[in-house]
Amino acid sequence: MSKTALITGASSGIGTELSKLLAKKGYNLILVARSKNKLEDLKAKIEKNNNVKANVILKDLSEQNAVKELYDEVKSKNIAVDVLVNNAGFGDFCEYVGSDIEKQDAMMNVNIKALADAVYYFGADMKKRREGKILNVASIAAFIPGPYMAVYYASKAFVLSFSEAVAKELKEYNVTVTALCPGPTNTGFENAADMKGKSTMFAKLKPVSAKLVAKKGYKGMMKGRRVKFCSLGNAIATFSARFTPHRLNAAFAAWVNGDPRK
Ligand SMILES: NC(=O)c1ccc[n+]([C@@H]2O[C@H](COP(=O)([O-])OP(=O)(O)OC[C@H]3O[C@@H](n4cnc5c(N)ncnc54)[C@H](OP(=O)(O)O)[C@@H]3O)[C@@H](O)[C@H]2O)c1
Repeated sequence: MSKTALITGASSGIGTELSKLLAKKGYNLILVARSKNKLEDLKAKIEKNNNVKANVILKDLSEQNAVKELYDEVKSKNIAVDVLVNNAGFGDFCEYVGSDIEKQDAMMNVNIKALADAVYYFGADMKKRREGKILNVASIAAFIPGPYMAVYYASKAFVLSFSEAVAKELKEYNVTVTALCPGPTNTGFENAADMKGKSTMFAKLKPVSAKLVAKKGYKGMMKGRRVKFCSLGNAIATFSARFTPHRLNAAFAAWVNGDPRK
């Protein structure tokens, strides 16, 4: 019987590439995001090119009960989720104090709360079945404080810590949790975070393709790795950050990000 993967943030970037890859591997899909046209186009393309079914569920994951509603909708379709990919997320390039507080709240809801809620609800079924794989998209930002993207970096630190903790809890139930930690990647992220033409991050750190990140994420998840990087350089840089004072790490991140006031 074919298995099902649910991917949040499937409408763009890393989520789209992970959806295509999972379809290629024979998974039926549940594609979740807000952009109806993009998701419908992706569903059509995937169903045309692979022998799988794709369901589209439109959901704004910044809303309070979004994940419980998503879970109930999936249950009402009688679908068991074998693979959960918590990929939806975004940043905001700004000074935190004085920023758009609604965008910061939405970021915390999508990057943190929705991710944790999805692990809670879909993870419960996996735990019962004693089978399942969860891929949580964190970032190399998870390892250091990030001035001018303070909430974003902190949200990814949550994703990393939470994923590693829950991975330990779920191991004995044969459910794996992998935190994927990409560096800068060519997607819609730069635009969504208001970085384009302002932040120097994508100029200073060479971005990779979403396809490569999806491939690394898929491999890491299949092997049940707890943390997966997309390059040796990223692995070494984040490892060495453990031995540098956070004051210096924060200064480095501020330099990489650039100053939004300029
Ligand atoms: N690109 C990078 O440099 C980079 C590096 C490290 C980690 N990451 C992480 O990778 C993940 C994917 O981002 P990406 O780079 O592929 O960026 P992207 O192209 O902007 O994709 C972001 C996805 O998240 C979805 N999303 C955003 N807000 C949402 C909401 N309120 N409700 C539901 N879905 C929402 C978007 O869908 P809709 O707009 O259609 O809702 C979109 O599908 C994120 O968690 C990001 O933090 C990215």
